[in-house]
Amino acid sequence: MIVLGIETSCDETGIALYHTEYGLLGHTLYSQIEMHNEYGGVVPELASRDHIRRVLPLIKQTLLKAERHLHDINAIAYTQGPGLAGALLVGASIGTALGFALNIPVLGIHHLEGHLLSPLLSKPSPSFPFVALLVSGGHTQLMQVNGIGLYKLLGETVDDAAGEAFDKTAKLLGLGYPGGPALSKLAMQGQSGRFKLPRPMLNSGNLNFSFSGLKTAVLTLVSKHDCLTQQMRADIALAFQEAAVAVLTEKALAALSQTGLTQLVVAGGVGANSQLRRSLTNRAAAIGATVFYPELEFCTDNGAMIAFAGAMRLQTADNGSQQPSSSFTVKP
Ligand code: KG4
Ligand code: ZN
Repeated sequence: MIVLGIETSCDETGIALYHTEYGLLGHTLYSQIEMHNEYGGVVPELASRDHIRRVLPLIKQTLLKAERHLHDINAIAYTQGPGLAGALLVGASIGTALGFALNIPVLGIHHLEGHLLSPLLSKPSPSFPFVALLVSGGHTQLMQVNGIGLYKLLGETVDDAAGEAFDKTAKLLGLGYPGGPALSKLAMQGQSGRFKLPRPMLNSGNLNFSFSGLKTAVLTLVSKHDCLTQQMRADIALAFQEAAVAVLTEKALAALSQTGLTQLVVAGGVGANSQLRRSLTNRAAAIGATVFYPELEFCTDNGAMIAFAGAMRLQTADNGSQQPSSSFTVKP
């Protein structure tokens, strides 16, 4: 079975073809970052209009690269949400229309389920059950993943998402959009220990997170200085990254200990952060656990994770197993 995946939840148009036997046949991605950069963030109206321009040419391009035809597609999976309403509607409308024309099943996939399952696209891949740390621009969650659709929420942010905190802090430091990669690049020149920032909810006794206080602490620090030198900005960037990474690492390790599981999967854009990867890998190794990451290109939004999640959902349904109870509401 070949599933076409369509991702249009935010500022990336992602298209992919996933074959249930042969794996990923091809994928293409168009990023709107340049278009939104001058506004300092995503402009929803512009995002929707650009997705309309990109989706069909990208589908054609993906099919061509994979040497397949439209009629080879057996099902279509599109990102149902969460995301920008107008942007999501583009993927949903095109996916549904195409499915109607080809007379094949169409299903909506929860964006986070796509991220959650994305490390299964790489080899070696984890086996169920595992703990997943989902760290994106809109969400920060720890989940216990027992199978396709069998997700148990262990903890989540009570305010800002980790990626949102990276983006807002980057803005305070005068960096462009998206802030995460820019901030982590600047942090490489930083000197550790020059500024001390809080590690929110580190000892809260549960698996929840909070990042808005950390961002406010940076704001307070920045507003204390009339003029920040480049070195100071780098030192603040590093202090922020160290604080965020420390909290994410501690909570992920606590989730492993609480569940008794030994596999940790990291997904979502912040999962591309190299300091976070180093920290998690080292700490997990010390307790005999293994960390799995998606390929860097599948950490941020992409069509491959949606095609894959769609294929897994359809296979689960084909196996005759009941529609698994899920904390994600996936409506066809
Ligand atoms: O998963 P994603 O592409 O989109 C959402 O579903 O939100 O994640 C985007 C987020 C942004 O906040 C971005 O700044 C952050 O991931 N990000 C990073 C890095 N690369 C992307 N944050 C920290 N370090 C990075 N290297
Ligand atoms: Zn995402």
